Amino acid sequence: MGEDVTTAASRAADKKPKMGVWLLLVGAVIMLAGLLFGYDQGVIAGALDGIQKSFGASTTMIQIITSWVTLGALVGALVAGVLADKLGRRVTILLAAILFTIGALLEALAPGTTVLVIGRLVVGFGVGVASVAAPLYAAEQAPTRLRGRFVSMYQLAITIGIFIAYLVDQALINNDMWRVMLGVSAVPAILLFVVMLPMPDSPRWFVKVGRRNDALKALTKVRPDVDANTEIEEIEKAATEDDANKATWAEVFSKKLRKPLMIGVGLAVFQQITGINAIIYYANKIFAQAGFATPQDQAAATTWAIGGVNVLATLIAVVYVDRFGRRPLLLAGLVGMATALITVGISFHFMDNADTSGAGTGGPTTAGIITLVALVVFIASFAFSLGPVVWTVINEIFPNRVRGRAVAVATAVNWGSAWLVSQFFLTLIDSIGNSATFYLFGAFSVVAYVWIWKTVPETKGRTLEEIQEIWEDDNPVQAQRDAGTL
Ligand code: BGC
Repeated sequence: MGEDVTTAASRAADKKPKMGVWLLLVGAVIMLAGLLFGYDQGVIAGALDGIQKSFGASTTMIQIITSWVTLGALVGALVAGVLADKLGRRVTILLAAILFTIGALLEALAPGTTVLVIGRLVVGFGVGVASVAAPLYAAEQAPTRLRGRFVSMYQLAITIGIFIAYLVDQALINNDMWRVMLGVSAVPAILLFVVMLPMPDSPRWFVKVGRRNDALKALTKVRPDVDANTEIEEIEKAATEDDANKATWAEVFSKKLRKPLMIGVGLAVFQQITGINAIIYYANKIFAQAGFATPQDQAAATTWAIGGVNVLATLIAVVYVDRFGRRPLLLAGLVGMATALITVGISFHFMDNADTSGAGTGGPTTAGIITLVALVVFIASFAFSLGPVVWTVINEIFPNRVRGRAVAVATAVNWGSAWLVSQFFLTLIDSIGNSATFYLFGAFSVVAYVWIWKTVPETKGRTLEEIQEIWEDDNPVQAQRDAGTL
């Protein structure tokens, strides 16, 4: 992500980056974009019950209402790169904020399921656009030394957004105030718009479209501590090289890049088919099945066991991701996830067979409590591994010239897989049962473990150029093992 703008000169100038007001505002932009993303992911968990009651929606309709945010996001992520290049990063983010706001209002005021679904698609499109444009904007503005932190702040902000959504759900669940729950996401969207409005576009984009003076002004404003002229020259040099080397789509899918592409796409798929968003979206329903009788109890379990734990474990990962390798984190996380999913499957087996789910009796059974604990283990394991690490790896395995396009492919595949899971989760439960559904996620975690163990090489502590050398080996993992670096 913009690594090619890093030069010895800018690195030297970065020694002591000053966090001026404008740079803090860049931080605020990425935090707000992440919050919005997370809020829109999480809020549906508490809203589904009320929506079902208001519209008498079928299971299929409930799944469409839940999952079409991810379809919108899939399209948004695919067009975001083009928009960010044509209109600029700033206008693209403003556009995403406007879309969020319109989508949130459509959802809140929907007279029926059709408008609600359209609102979900519009919100999703905004999520997809922002999920590409905001990290890009922040990465291009951040001093080198802070770039990693800016990007991981985004992942943290997503989990905080999910947590806030759960808190709002919990506060409003008594009166089935689903319209307010969904409408509230207009607030951070408007905030994002207000913060973004006075901001300059990134110097890198100005250089790209030949507006050198604007680039200088923007750089001086956000980073008054660097030598703007030298920095702009570096950016210009990198941009010219970029243009000369522009990669084609055919190259993204060429044999030469097959290994990193398979790894990027594989990680994107496994991050989703091991069930994370089924749990994020349908947490309240799962807790209801596990014997948490009242909507309040379900919402409380969702807020703290899923939302709170997700934030805490992500915080740990963000601090330690560079100390531990990518592989150990991914593999350890998958052991926790697989164990937890199989445990949930077993508990449901007991709950379904005993038919004493606790519903109406005022509290969850032992099996219900075990389910809660297992889901905490699942979320914590995901949040310190597949959650952040998959995105780290996807952003570091491709050569500079194809990175933009290749990351877009992996991101779109990730949204597509998220859509598949959230679109069919309830149907799956209806047709094969709770236990089998969780066993299936557990089985995918085992497959993910074996696949990562065999094919994903360690990338920690290597420069982006060194990472490219990894792909020259026929079997990169074996080569690292032979060299004693694994
Ligand atoms: C995933 C999202 C997920 C989130 C949960 C992210 O890394 O890409 O799909 O909802 O983590 O924290």
